[in-house]
Amino acid sequence: MKDVNILAIETSCDETAAAVVKNGRQVVSQALYTQIAIHKEFGGVVPEIASRNHVLKLPQVVETAIRGAGGMENIDAIAVTNGPGLVGALLTGVSYAKGLAYAAKKPLIPVHHIAGHICANYISHPDLKPPFLCLVVSGGHTQIVWVKDETTYETLGRTRDDAAGEAIDKVARVLGLAYPGGPNLQELAKQGDENKYRFPHSFRGEDHLDFSFSGLKTAVINLLHGFEQKGEAYDGADVAASFLKNVADTLVKNTFEAARRTDTKILAVAGGVSANEQIRTAFEKRAREAGIALYFPELRYCTDNAAMIASCAYYEYEKGTRAGLDLNARPVMEL
Ligand code: KG4
Ligand code: ZN
Repeated sequence: MKDVNILAIETSCDETAAAVVKNGRQVVSQALYTQIAIHKEFGGVVPEIASRNHVLKLPQVVETAIRGAGGMENIDAIAVTNGPGLVGALLTGVSYAKGLAYAAKKPLIPVHHIAGHICANYISHPDLKPPFLCLVVSGGHTQIVWVKDETTYETLGRTRDDAAGEAIDKVARVLGLAYPGGPNLQELAKQGDENKYRFPHSFRGEDHLDFSFSGLKTAVINLLHGFEQKGEAYDGADVAASFLKNVADTLVKNTFEAARRTDTKILAVAGGVSANEQIRTAFEKRAREAGIALYFPELRYCTDNAAMIASCAYYEYEKGTRAGLDLNARPVMEL
């Protein structure tokens, strides 16, 4: 069988990324320009600034990925994340991919960002095959997905308000940590007592698999404001550790309940928050007890990257999915 190389572009948030992946599993080349240093100053991603920097960096990033694959003649199709995400940021990648596909006379393949996160596990685990269950936990999404086959997904539970990553970034900010809060909160929590504070768990005793993190976020912020108003000293590390434990417990509880209901012994976790050490440890412990095979992407493929988009695009390509030059960015998009 002939090898298929796909070039993918990802610009849904603050990473400008391009990669070439062979047969959906093997990374041939990749380039990533992270805008973290730019947005740090503002304490979060500023959409307009993200778009402008994508426009500036895309030519260089895409060129590096193409060159790493030995030139455009080695590329069979061009893929791009067309949603969900920041609309302006998505548009820069979609426009670039359309121009490239037209000029190079290559097919254009649209990819759903969440499907991309799931497929990050295919890059890190060449043996992983559907059906399996996947928890996607990122800055924008918290979703339990049944992966029926490489291109068919069913959402079993999702957050009704904040994504886990959103709550993590907000709590980190109130604790005075720099953007992006997740990795900094993880390090602070290592020095804290995770049993020091008890925060509320959402939807206790309810039958659905949905999440809610906004009540938890508010409880943590109220506690910190209370300390400040009373001029009471507190250890931020204890707050960070107790908060992360609550997040991990909730993610574990719903995800393993979904595994029980779907009667699966294969579970994957994906998305930026799946890089978190405390959350990984909680999942590993429970997976051992339940006799479930657990998969995480390598750290570099947890957060936004283009290799995961190229992996996803390979299966869409094989199925015959193609986009026209009228492809548009879609900020909100069902999986
Ligand atoms: O998947 P991602 O790169 O972008 C979205 O699609 O949203 O996820 C970014 C999120 C941010 O909220 C960031 O703080 C969080 O992932 N994150 C982490 C860690 N690394 C990234 N959260 C906790 N611990 C980490 N080590
Ligand atoms: Zn993402």
